[in-house]
Amino acid sequence: MPKVTFQNTGQSVDADEGAELRDVTQKNGWPIPYGCENGICGTCLIKVSENKEGLTEETEHEAQTLKAMGKADGEHRLACQCKIKGDCTIEQ
Ligand code: FES
Repeated sequence: MPKVTFQNTGQSVDADEGAELRDVTQKNGWPIPYGCENGICGTCLIKVSENKEGLTEETEHEAQTLKAMGKADGEHRLACQCKIKGDCTIEQ
């Protein structure tokens, strides 16, 4: 079972493969804000500090939004668009 770590607090939780990262963060009370939940507003911006391959590929909306925000650097993601594939560490 993939392990997702929130670097800000050091908390690690087990998550089902294919689970939405948004659900994992909300279920565990990680303080990541959400707005549109559709990859457009950029509110849920996070940085993947380890194992970015542990999250699904960027969606089209996500890629466009990250580019518009100047965050299309391969390290930043929009939490509302990510699903869990394997172990990863995120930070806000
Ligand atoms: S909540 Fe709007 S981009 Fe994720």
